Amino acid sequence: MKKIDLRSDTVTLPSEEMLEAMRYAKLGDDVFGDDPTVIELQEKAAKLLSMEAALLVCSGTMGNICGLVSQTKKGDEVILEQNSHIVLHEVASPAVIGGLQLRTLQGKDGYLITPEMLNDAVRGIDLHYPISSLVSIENTHNMAGGKVWSKEQLQDLYKSAKKNNLKVHIDGARLFNAVIASGISARELVKGADSIMFCLSKGLACPIGSIVAGSQEFINQALRIRKMLGGGMRQAGIIAAPGIIALEKMIDRLADDHKNAQILKKGLSNIEGLITRECQTNILFIDISGLNITGEQFKADLAKNNITVSSRWDTVFRLVTHYGIEKEDIEFVIDVIHKLYAKK
Ligand SMILES: Cc1ncc(COP(=O)(O)O)c(C=O)c1O
Repeated sequence: MKKIDLRSDTVTLPSEEMLEAMRYAKLGDDVFGDDPTVIELQEKAAKLLSMEAALLVCSGTMGNICGLVSQTKKGDEVILEQNSHIVLHEVASPAVIGGLQLRTLQGKDGYLITPEMLNDAVRGIDLHYPISSLVSIENTHNMAGGKVWSKEQLQDLYKSAKKNNLKVHIDGARLFNAVIASGISARELVKGADSIMFCLSKGLACPIGSIVAGSQEFINQALRIRKMLGGGMRQAGIIAAPGIIALEKMIDRLADDHKNAQILKKGLSNIEGLITRECQTNILFIDISGLNITGEQFKADLAKNNITVSSRWDTVFRLVTHYGIEKEDIEFVIDVIHKLYAKK
């Protein structure tokens, strides 16, 4: 029986074509800057984003650290949405590695930082204050349920950041889900930002790796931070080869994940006691508190049917659709949950 793992799009396995590409990748020593496959991936990524340069890093977390630490000084303040991944799930790396203080804002609809919010959060000039030097946003916003920033919202943020002398970093772990959902190209979405990180290892199905991109000056600095973190990799073409396939072939298919998430939402929406939240991309939050069972019980019931889920808060679960999960799998999940919990 197939295992259906809805915990995250990070569980995706590489395609056969990716594995083949890894086997036959032309390799060099990337710390010396001469791995041709890494160079090809980085150039491709930079072009896709219309940024001067791009850099392959081990993970999204490492990419975010590079983005924040390369563009700030110790003691600076970075502004972020309070439930962003960097705030909740990156082990206080901005503080530990960058000596940065985080100023967190409650995002509108769980994700959005408006120009007004930004203006209010930026410190004035005063001996007592840290220097506000960067704002970091998340698109799509994971904890808000994969919510997508509109182009206008992004432009407003870039403009007000510029006015306030702030750099803008985008945690675009799922940038291409935002591209597919909004119908706006990646280069349009990031135009006006100073740095962007996106993950190859989530919905794009690569086993490892993320990209950071920005100006050449930024990448020169990010390269130093990556090295400092132990992220200088030697024959990294092995990782870059599936990345090239991801950029060429795995972006458009994210639309299938979004469709499957909608099917899942619709299929679960008529179960009394189960609430489905708004879903714009491949992340669906459901709240099962009205079913009168514990989160642990729900998890165990599904596990008996080969379905793996994980909770965010006791009875609130994040279900993520991704490469390897087909429409029939989603229909199976809906059927199982109905059989288990729908009132007859
Ligand atoms: C929004 C967001 N940013 C960053 C990351 C970090 O990526 P990684 O797990 O590759 O470090 C994640 C991972 O789930 C994420 O969801």
